[in-house]
Amino acid sequence: MSDRKSVKDQIRADYARMIQGRSSCCGPAASPGLARTIGYSEKELASAPEEAAAASFGCGNPLALAELKPGEVVLDLGSGAGLDVLLASQQVGPSGKVYGLDMTPEMIAQARANLAQAGIQNVEILEGDIEAIPLPEASLDFVTSNCVINLAPDKEKVFREIFRVLRPGGRFSVSDIVTKNLSPAVREKLPASGCVALALEEEDYLEAIREAGFRELKVTNRAPFNLSVGGQLLSADCGCGCGGHDSAGSSAGQIISLTVQGRKAG
Ligand SMILES: C[S@@+](CC[C@H](N)C(=O)[O-])C[C@H]1O[C@@H](n2cnc3c(N)ncnc32)[C@H](O)[C@@H]1O
Repeated sequence: MSDRKSVKDQIRADYARMIQGRSSCCGPAASPGLARTIGYSEKELASAPEEAAAASFGCGNPLALAELKPGEVVLDLGSGAGLDVLLASQQVGPSGKVYGLDMTPEMIAQARANLAQAGIQNVEILEGDIEAIPLPEASLDFVTSNCVINLAPDKEKVFREIFRVLRPGGRFSVSDIVTKNLSPAVREKLPASGCVALALEEEDYLEAIREAGFRELKVTNRAPFNLSVGGQLLSADCGCGCGGHDSAGSSAGQIISLTVQGRKAG
């Protein structure tokens, strides 16, 4: 428990610093350029204030194939500076509602500023832990998350929480870092608060989702995640102690960005 708390305290401190410096523990420094490389379209980026697009710390675009409908109620776990909250709010429209949830006050402040700048009304950013979602059961139509669950010490608990808050028939789409045969020696060298150290092997990640009760999982995107882009994350001085190691094809294993969708039986 105390180990988990100290990991979360470190993650919170890392992201407080990163939102000011725009570096990331999960990839190259945040920028609209990064957002493009992880799957956001020009149209999506143009619809958001530059400040929000420039502060993406994601590893995919979990809303790309989400097919949100007007009026739906959505939650973004680990909402960061608010890019996905903003895009979801445009899709659900004024009759819908989007919650963001994050544990880093500085990120929450940035998200609220970005959403206010965009004049978005149908959103609310909550402070809290994705392992204990502060919303009632069966209250949401859709849950999304971008490069956050990989940071959670107890991923099984996160997926049980997603299952709890979704209505019967509710869906989720999450982008995350997973690993494939990552060598324990490499993993051990990575700081516990970085994206890869706590990332699950792909099969274990999918099993955690099934164990929570979800069926009909669909992997909508699976791509090698190259932590060496820009050389930034291979250096020890990336500002968040991410460490890192080369990704695809390395004998030490692979680091993968995975986007998964699923549904709670209706
Ligand atoms: C890699 S950033 C991703 C931010 C955002 N989803 C994006 O795509 O830009 C991780 C975010 O998750 C938040 N976070 C990490 N662990 C969390 C937890 N257990 N509960 C709530 N937020 C968490 C961090 O504060 C940070 O804002």
